Amino acid sequence: MVQKIALFNHKGGVSKTTTTFNLGWMLASKGKRVILVDGDPQCNLTGMALGEQTEDDEARIQKIYNTTSNIKTGLAPAFESQPRAIEAVDCIPIQGQDGLFLLPGHVGFAEYEVELGIAQTLKTLSSSLQALRNLPGAIYDLLEKTALKLNADYILIDMSPSLSSINQNLLMISDFFLVPTTADFFSVMAIDSLTKVLPRWHAWAKSANSLQILKDANYPFPEVDVRFLGTIVQNYRIIGGKETAAFQTWIAKIEQSVSENLVPTLTRSNMMLPSQAYRDQGLQSSLSLAKISNFNSLIALSQNHRTPVCALTPQQLGQKGIILEANQQKQEEFRKIFSDLADKIITLTSRSVAYAVSA
Ligand SMILES: Nc1ncnc2c1ncn2[C@@H]1O[C@H](COP(=O)(O)OP(=O)(O)OP(=O)(O)O)[C@@H](O)[C@H]1O
Ligand SMILES: [Mg+2]
Repeated sequence: MVQKIALFNHKGGVSKTTTTFNLGWMLASKGKRVILVDGDPQCNLTGMALGEQTEDDEARIQKIYNTTSNIKTGLAPAFESQPRAIEAVDCIPIQGQDGLFLLPGHVGFAEYEVELGIAQTLKTLSSSLQALRNLPGAIYDLLEKTALKLNADYILIDMSPSLSSINQNLLMISDFFLVPTTADFFSVMAIDSLTKVLPRWHAWAKSANSLQILKDANYPFPEVDVRFLGTIVQNYRIIGGKETAAFQTWIAKIEQSVSENLVPTLTRSNMMLPSQAYRDQGLQSSLSLAKISNFNSLIALSQNHRTPVCALTPQQLGQKGIILEANQQKQEEFRKIFSDLADKIITLTSRSVAYAVSA
């Protein structure tokens, strides 16, 4: 059975897309079958994963925006009332890593936002609005069918930086979620607003699952059971192997806000795993799963070669001598961090932990 993991923070630029790509690649390199879902109309993940080395930027952009099978075409039967059922998306195998696939995004996915928003607020439907009942369960149906077709172990969902109806839906149909952050005041603010928003979304999803109109839909809204895995802090500067004092302060404040506000709130909404599961992974109450410092020049090479930082080859690094060695050493440090993160996620999302939840 596939495990759907959403990477969510409504704050922008906190490395959701970069983490989805790097983590997905790492999970696949450990033998898992992984689908990366681009749920953001910006299509950054699609851009990161697609394209040939030889293409110019314009050709690459056209390729990103013109995939024939993507999240929008996949949902069109429900959102455009087409007389056909939702079918699995033809995902694109990501070059360089077996078992890793992309469910491409589409810039027009945002056009479905308004209708989904209306559908998610209605409790009863007049006959003229019957088609709306098929919308809240449509994304779930599409992802499950696509996972089944590819026999996927994991779906990682990259989300847009917003509190949109699409994000509400994507998060509530997931099994787990991660909150990427950056070491700054805005991330502290974001944790604070997530603490307010997530219980509301959860309560909506619970009621959506019990609404008769959504039970009768072509794509019924599923039972909600989404659990918080933890946070990742990314892209801070280090000096002498340690984060600088300014970043340290913000990291501490984020951790405090997660442990004192977010976790107690999510516990009340039944969105946490048993606390022992986190402790078994060596996690403190702040649930900080990984700290990933600034990739420096490796990030530019990673985007250039559509390859995660950890998987760049010496040819792709393109340097010689001590510069190459220094970069390879950095790469090895990041590889270890992502490998540990992937191992923690594999364990936290495993069946034994899931059984402990339901027991
Ligand atoms: N560890 C890192 N070191 C250096 N640069 C990074 C790191 N992580 C991410 N970046 C860069 O920071 C920027 C934002 O990252 P990314 O696009 O992954 O964030 P995001 O949360 O997906 O943004 P959005 O909210 O717009 O979707 C990008 O330019 C990315 O290359
Ligand atoms: Mg992004």
